[in-house]
Amino acid sequence: MSSPSRASFGSKFGIIMAAAGSAVGLGNIWRFPIETGQNGGAAFILIYIIAIAPHAYKKLSSHPFWSNIGFIGVLGGSLILCYYVVVAGWVLKYMFLSLDGTLSTLFVPGDASGYESLFGNFVSSPWSPLLFMVLFVLMCHFAIAAGVRKGIEKLSKIFMPALFVILIVLVGFSLFAPGAQEGLSFLFHPDFSKLTTGSVLSAIAQAFYSLSLCMGCLCTYASYFGKDVNIVKSAVSISVIDTMVAIMAGLIIFPAVFSAGISPQSGPSLAFIALPGAFQQAFGSVPAVAYIVSVLFYALLVLAALTSAISLYEVPTAYIHETWHIRRRYAALVVTAVCLMLGTVCSLSMGVLGDLHIFGKSVFDFLDYFCTTIMMPLSGVFIAIFLGWVVKRDIFMDDVTNGRTLRAAPAGVIHWLLRWVAPILLLAAFLGVLGVI
Ligand code: PFF
Repeated sequence: MSSPSRASFGSKFGIIMAAAGSAVGLGNIWRFPIETGQNGGAAFILIYIIAIAPHAYKKLSSHPFWSNIGFIGVLGGSLILCYYVVVAGWVLKYMFLSLDGTLSTLFVPGDASGYESLFGNFVSSPWSPLLFMVLFVLMCHFAIAAGVRKGIEKLSKIFMPALFVILIVLVGFSLFAPGAQEGLSFLFHPDFSKLTTGSVLSAIAQAFYSLSLCMGCLCTYASYFGKDVNIVKSAVSISVIDTMVAIMAGLIIFPAVFSAGISPQSGPSLAFIALPGAFQQAFGSVPAVAYIVSVLFYALLVLAALTSAISLYEVPTAYIHETWHIRRRYAALVVTAVCLMLGTVCSLSMGVLGDLHIFGKSVFDFLDYFCTTIMMPLSGVFIAIFLGWVVKRDIFMDDVTNGRTLRAAPAGVIHWLLRWVAPILLLAAFLGVLGVI
């Protein structure tokens, strides 16, 4: 749906890097190992891989009800952005803490209390997390204000290859850590006894989150693709890259965690409390290696967070730019202002605003819950029904096969899945999360 007046990506490599940049994010390196740790290791990964298979969509709108579905994406993407930048700010801070050696000096074998108080004091203090969040938001702002080609595409083409190189180096180090064997078997031997309905639902939610689905990001990026881009092939490449990165992150994290004797189920604090010590424990016999691993790991997280946050930023920016007919730069300013305001509330909800609760959850937890467990699957159900039942099959097939120049079979299968499988599965996941079934 690109017209000559609209922005567009310049190359196929740029398209894949930008879209993979959206998908590969904190979800792969921070969230995926936590979820895997808490839901039975490889068994969770199996369900996750089954869940990522059937989703690829492109926005079309006719009836006002259906065009409003796009708005769920704009709203959801914007809300995710507001708490995503808070965690991204923590990651930025931890990159500096590893660079200046703080993380290595705090290491006491078998005692994580130093890291615990460092993290606890940091996130609950009012100013420091805000400062890093603002820094991160400004980086996103300038990337977005620079434009689709000069900002998003250019940065993705640099950041994503850098991210892959760092990943490979870290996996290399990790395979030599003393606990590597145990970590690998946790990751690759499924423990089906830990797999509950809850973990299946978590795997579906994680697949959605990790692939940036239903929040308008890929839809907005796809609108910058040229007509000749093979959507099915691109969707497959992005899913493969995203899953590989998540598994490689597991390969980095679990050997270190096992060699330090930490429970793989330690939850969201894993990256900030357990891992800094785990890296020291696993590689401490050669301090330079422990230092390099720690710096590279947080740099990896910063890169991953940046490309994903940029894609989240683009959704409301493009929306404002196109709906209000104001310049992209000013649209980005509006997004930055709103993001800073809501992000500030989220950040402070870890400390001074800790007593502010919405449905019994802190602002941060509520936003995460609301976006990933309610808005994403709900938006998914509507998108699947829209593409499977409302849009004429011919239009869908024409679009996905680039005007019938590509093979029809994959598009036919996707259409069938969107019609018969996706709505039911997603509705079940949604009702399951709400505890209705
Ligand atoms: N996929 C990103 C990650 O794995 O961190 C997070 C994300 C980006 C979720 C964009 C949703 C989204 F629309």
